[in-house]
Amino acid sequence: MTMDKGKIFQETVKVLWNRSVGPGYYRIGLTCHHGYKDARPGQFIMLRFPGQITPFLRRPYSIHQLIYDNDRVVGIELLYKVVGEGTEKLSGCQVDDDLDILGPLGNGFTFSSHYKTVYLAAGGIGVAPMVFLASYLKTKGVDIGKSLVFLGGRSKDDLLCRDVFSDIGIKLQVTTDDGSEGDRCFITHPLEMKSKNDRPDIIYACGPLDMLKCVGDIAEKYHVPCEVSVETVMACGMGACLGCAVEKKEMNKAYLHACIDGPVFDIRTINLYLS
Ligand SMILES: Cc1cc2nc3c(=O)[nH]c(=O)nc-3n(C[C@H](O)[C@H](O)[C@H](O)COP(=O)(O)OP(=O)(O)OC[C@H]3O[C@@H](n4cnc5c(N)ncnc54)[C@H](O)[C@@H]3O)c2cc1C
Ligand code: FES
Repeated sequence: MTMDKGKIFQETVKVLWNRSVGPGYYRIGLTCHHGYKDARPGQFIMLRFPGQITPFLRRPYSIHQLIYDNDRVVGIELLYKVVGEGTEKLSGCQVDDDLDILGPLGNGFTFSSHYKTVYLAAGGIGVAPMVFLASYLKTKGVDIGKSLVFLGGRSKDDLLCRDVFSDIGIKLQVTTDDGSEGDRCFITHPLEMKSKNDRPDIIYACGPLDMLKCVGDIAEKYHVPCEVSVETVMACGMGACLGCAVEKKEMNKAYLHACIDGPVFDIRTINLYLS
């Protein structure tokens, strides 16, 4: 079943909370009035600061979680890492501040009812869409007890959301580049070992480009379907600037656009080695 694209809304929203969850990492809760009840894991929003000239362009952020009031979706939560001007400014936002968001954008991960065991691979801040995805998959009958999240970071401070995954009931395999927690290796190492010995129905991944390339190679080697969220630099988020081009695999000079054709792609359809 492919997740359908829905309507896109631009609205001014209020900050519900903005909490530090690690060095340079924050979770921000935002009210949202429209459309997000149908939002899909992997979709994103474009955010700007109303009435302010800088940063000039909106910045893209994955939907990390939906915020519910009983059964009603009343907001979205983002998880972000401070890396530059926009995220620095976002980290200074206070409760009740206004932000301008455009969304939900992009296509989101796809799901088929025959998927029972799934592997989620997240590198660093690539974990942001994976929490929403894990909660969603649980509601769709995936065997969460047999599924796994492979969570990698530079050091233990970059291993986020472990408590949330544990609440969802999905097991975690963690690695760090510096060995401060879990095995000292890239997350793709345990992912390959598990995919070889205990093949999942699909691998979903989000993280740095080199990690996604490696995940793609593993998926191909062990014949596992694989979807990756490709986080290119984006200026408009709506297919107008053509700044987020991703090359199609077998058609030279033919491009897809991460904001409207992605950010989630079947790894077999794109050529990450040319990105
Ligand atoms: C679909 C999508 C979803 C995203 N989801 C999240 C998320 O949930 N949480 C989060 O923290 N970030 C996410 N990002 C990345 C986020 O958009 C950038 O980190 C942000 O735009 C940086 O803005 P800035 O003004 O703080 O930094 P800038 O001053 O614009 O850039 C600072 C540094 O970050 C680098 N950078 C900018 N954009 C990206 C990018 N897309 N990927 C990697 N490096 C980048 C720049 O090259 C530069 O070195 C997502 C990106 C995309 C395309
Ligand atoms: S970000 Fe402008 S076309 Fe994709």
